[in-house]
Amino acid sequence: MIQVEHLTKRYGPNTAVQDLSFQVAPGEILGLLGPNGAGKTTTLRVLAGFLPATEGKVQVAGFDVFEQPMEVKRRIGYLPELPPLYPEMSVEGYLGFVARLKRLPPRQVPGRIDAVLEQCSLGEVQHRLLGRLSKGYRQRVGLAQVLIHDPPVLILDEPTAGLDPRQILEVRQLIKSLGGSRTIILSTHILPEVSATCGRVVIINRGQVVAVDTPENLSRRRTGAERLLVRIDGPADQVKEALGAVPGVAAVQEEISDGVTGWQVEGPGDLGPALAREVVQRGWGLRELRPLTLSLEDIFIELTTAEPSAEGEEVAA
Ligand SMILES: Nc1ncnc2c1ncn2[C@@H]1O[C@H](COP(=O)(O)OP(=O)(O)OP(=O)(O)O)[C@@H](O)[C@H]1O
Ligand SMILES: [Mg+2]
Repeated sequence: MIQVEHLTKRYGPNTAVQDLSFQVAPGEILGLLGPNGAGKTTTLRVLAGFLPATEGKVQVAGFDVFEQPMEVKRRIGYLPELPPLYPEMSVEGYLGFVARLKRLPPRQVPGRIDAVLEQCSLGEVQHRLLGRLSKGYRQRVGLAQVLIHDPPVLILDEPTAGLDPRQILEVRQLIKSLGGSRTIILSTHILPEVSATCGRVVIINRGQVVAVDTPENLSRRRTGAERLLVRIDGPADQVKEALGAVPGVAAVQEEISDGVTGWQVEGPGDLGPALAREVVQRGWGLRELRPLTLSLEDIFIELTTAEPSAEGEEVAA
């Protein structure tokens, strides 16, 4: 549904996005995750047709964003980082205004306004002026205007930014409920956001893709090596040696948590069966054997910890 191929965007001498490639399948919710200044907004603005790319190709719903921008705009709903809301307009009036901008047939407009007011729980403020709304409600109006023409593709730049925890949950739920029938790409620098809403994540750092995977796989993976935690009833001195001698084991480390001694075993490949066999053969009791995973936070930090780039350029935070 969305195809990004070798997208590069430079602002003068600064490269904001470099050789970015990824795809979003129909019905998928994809999270674009990265620290401040990583290039999320830039990427989404290019996808939405609001910013020309320096190099590369972007297709949305089968149309080239640069060659057929109107075809693309008709099929997307774009929530910018700072939605432009006119303070003197009422919620209802603004949604009608956007509906006309999107060239909705006039007789469909009232029905669509009611539908999005309902979808975004805006019924009770529909007559209020935008300038008098709280941040959370303004963000919901932003989402409502995204949905007004019922587009198949949603491009959402930090949809939960500035919301309180309850509103964040509500907006996440709303986004999830919109997935399935729609294709959604959203940006965030908040990790729980992607686990909560996205089926797949593209992590970018300094304008480049550093990982593409499901949130689950991301927290499972760790630079090729597998780490297991083993708890054994047996003589500690012999256990360490025996574990270290199992083929494939590269390191064994004692780990004590909650007063219980365990062993962290690390090595390439699937070590579980061989470790279990060794323990059983020696007649010890195997209390626990489980893979150790890194948290998504650990992975994110690992992948996006900034190192000075080769050119020595600084990326603004
Ligand atoms: N209009 C512009 N002119 C020049 N440089 C820009 C412009 N917009 C963004 N940049 C630069 O491009 C890089 C990427 O910015 P971008 O806004 O895409 O990041 P982001 O991932 O959305 O960050 P944030 O999490 O803070 O919203 C940054 O180094 C930024 O300073
Ligand atoms: Mg941004």
